[in-house]
Amino acid sequence: MKQTETMNKFDLSGRVCLITGGIGLLGQRHREAIRDAGGIPVTLDIVGEPDFLVDITDKKTLEETREKILEKYGRIDTLINNAANNPKVESTQAGKNWTRFENFPEKVWQEDLDVGLKGAFLCSQVFGSYMASQGRGVILNISSDLGLIAPDQRIYRKEGLPEEQQMVKSVTYSVVKHGLIGLTRYLATYWAEKGVRANALCPGGILNGQDEDFVKRLSNLIPMGRMANKDEYQAVVIFLLSDASSYMTGSVLAIEGGRTCW
Ligand SMILES: NC(=O)c1ccc[n+]([C@@H]2O[C@H](COP(=O)([O-])OP(=O)(O)OC[C@H]3O[C@@H](n4cnc5c(N)ncnc54)[C@H](O)[C@@H]3O)[C@@H](O)[C@H]2O)c1
Repeated sequence: MKQTETMNKFDLSGRVCLITGGIGLLGQRHREAIRDAGGIPVTLDIVGEPDFLVDITDKKTLEETREKILEKYGRIDTLINNAANNPKVESTQAGKNWTRFENFPEKVWQEDLDVGLKGAFLCSQVFGSYMASQGRGVILNISSDLGLIAPDQRIYRKEGLPEEQQMVKSVTYSVVKHGLIGLTRYLATYWAEKGVRANALCPGGILNGQDEDFVKRLSNLIPMGRMANKDEYQAVVIFLLSDASSYMTGSVLAIEGGRTCW
């Protein structure tokens, strides 16, 4: 491709880009995207073999991690708040599905908000404050199409099960994903003069071996008639992290095949 001044704005060469939940399904794609654009992806996760094994709900560990990152790489340029709890939604207790709003356990509410919201708050505080002190940085919060609209619970229904045993998309998913949009707008204005931009990406569901009936029901809610392929967010992540989006802050970008238009 011809390297023009415009195309150079997508270049992340030399930039140290943190990704929470960096070894998950989307985290790995963010890592590839950053590498493709010449950046240095740094994964933070609680399981597996990330660059830094860290629980993002623990501020002290995050502060220690920031020092280790600075020791190793000498800088921090961008942060993707991507980690989320991914609770199993199949189990039922005493004939009642715990995912349903009436039964939703306080413990799960707390755990989901701890990772999805407190984790993003703490990472923004620990890494974002450093970027603000440097006068330059980008925060990208990974919300969801369900950060803009309510889940359509009909697509999760299983034929033949009584109402109280039907699983639903959790209330915490909606609360966390809407909350991240609030955090985005707050940070965008709070740090506007410090050179730190904050935007939110709202991806639609990624095709990843889900049940065929579910895929059909979800696809029916999407004007483009299909779920996303796992590599369809990479170019937009490069755009949002790089100088290509230099005049963009506080924005909420829905990349969901048009689902939120309906
Ligand atoms: N997959 C989709 O279809 C989809 C659609 C829209 C939005 N999203 C959002 O994209 C993000 C990534 O989704 P995914 O599908 O890759 O999920 P995933 O479950 O594959 O990855 C999430 C990662 O977060 C990590 N994590 C959880 N708790 C943590 C903690 N306390 N500290 C550090 N890391 C922790 C997990 O170990 C996991 O690797 C999530 O915020 C999700 O809500 C996903």
